[in-house]
Amino acid sequence: MALITNARRLISTMALDTQILRVSRAAVSFAENTPVFADTHTHENMAHAARCVQQPGSVVAFPTETVYGLGGLALDDESVRAIYAAKNRPADNPLIVHVALTEQLERRILTLLHRIPKIYERLVARFWPGPLTILVPVEEGSPVSKLVTAGQTTVGVRMPDDNVARALIALSDTPLAAPSANASTRPSPTLASHVMHDLQGRIPLILDGGACSVGVESTVVDGLCDPPMLLRPGGVTAEDIRKYGGSAWANLVLAKKTAGVLEPVRTPGMKYRHYSPTARVVLFVGCGDGVAAVLDYVKNHTGKIALLRGAEFALAAEMGISAEERSMGHTAAEMAHSLFRELRAADELGVDMILVEGIAETGEGLAVMNRLTKAALEVINGLK
Ligand code: TXA
Ligand code: MG
Repeated sequence: MALITNARRLISTMALDTQILRVSRAAVSFAENTPVFADTHTHENMAHAARCVQQPGSVVAFPTETVYGLGGLALDDESVRAIYAAKNRPADNPLIVHVALTEQLERRILTLLHRIPKIYERLVARFWPGPLTILVPVEEGSPVSKLVTAGQTTVGVRMPDDNVARALIALSDTPLAAPSANASTRPSPTLASHVMHDLQGRIPLILDGGACSVGVESTVVDGLCDPPMLLRPGGVTAEDIRKYGGSAWANLVLAKKTAGVLEPVRTPGMKYRHYSPTARVVLFVGCGDGVAAVLDYVKNHTGKIALLRGAEFALAAEMGISAEERSMGHTAAEMAHSLFRELRAADELGVDMILVEGIAETGEGLAVMNRLTKAALEVINGLK
């Protein structure tokens, strides 16, 4: 027995030969809840990935509309353990479970209730498949691995709006636990190459379906508490949840941003450092065209600079500074889409600091600012 355990340990510390398999999102569709493939190459690669993820203890990275996920069987302890190990993720940070269909959630997870709690009905009808995670109760004798929920009494579930993701779940015929497929503390991956950068040698397979459209993770809501709570802003805006959720959601409150060290982790980054590139990230809020605030900052700090511009910042030349500059786009949705990619790209340039322009915390801006605040070591607030 000890020998087997030792052998397992040895295997788990050996570098894997990480394979990237390309799939075409456009070649995957659903007919009567069954995935259909328009090209054999995509079909073969998807089938291979499904066989891989079905093996207990095995994980596969796959694209979703938000960010790439690192999937393993949600009902199997060994698979969930492998997810935490590959990411080097603290074991008390719960994982989101992904389903292909609401029917799968009701049949495989809500095995006593058999239906999604009423409070979520309108939200699910409107936003699934899509970037919304809901918390449902962990039932007595729940088949979901206890390691998924990290001891919480709820489990987060979502149905991704990405046919590659949903086809993988449907083919493997089991809900998949999947956190973002980055190494813990790194920005979430929105390209297969980001996953490769962080997890090469630690996972066997990455399905490459191209860039993720939303670019930030799903919105996490808890409708089981009163008033309902927004635990993590994401792809679905708080405004839309209030508007479309029904009367109970009109009182939606935002969770506080940081948890004490002894409190259970209710949302990522509440307790742990998150989304951090190696360079020092400095976030500028309410600084207009940035000329005065950035100049002032640069006067007191030396080193190579990357400037990540949003809607209002002037060009580096107009600011009179020397910097590698990149645009994150002009709208909050564009910034959400490019944020993680640009943080990683700026980091690759080997700069000492990344100066980032913030945005108002409305619409998708709330999710953008939530991620930027967590990535930043320093915030320069021009409004104060
Ligand atoms: O868009 C997404 O949600 C991506 C893609 C892959 O689907 N997944 C993702 O997973 O962002 P992850 O593990 O990086 O973030 C999940 C977060 C956890 O950190 C946790 O704080 C919150 O969702 N969460 C999950 N289950 C929870 C629970 N039962 N109670 C409170 N928060 C929960
Ligand atoms: Mg994550």
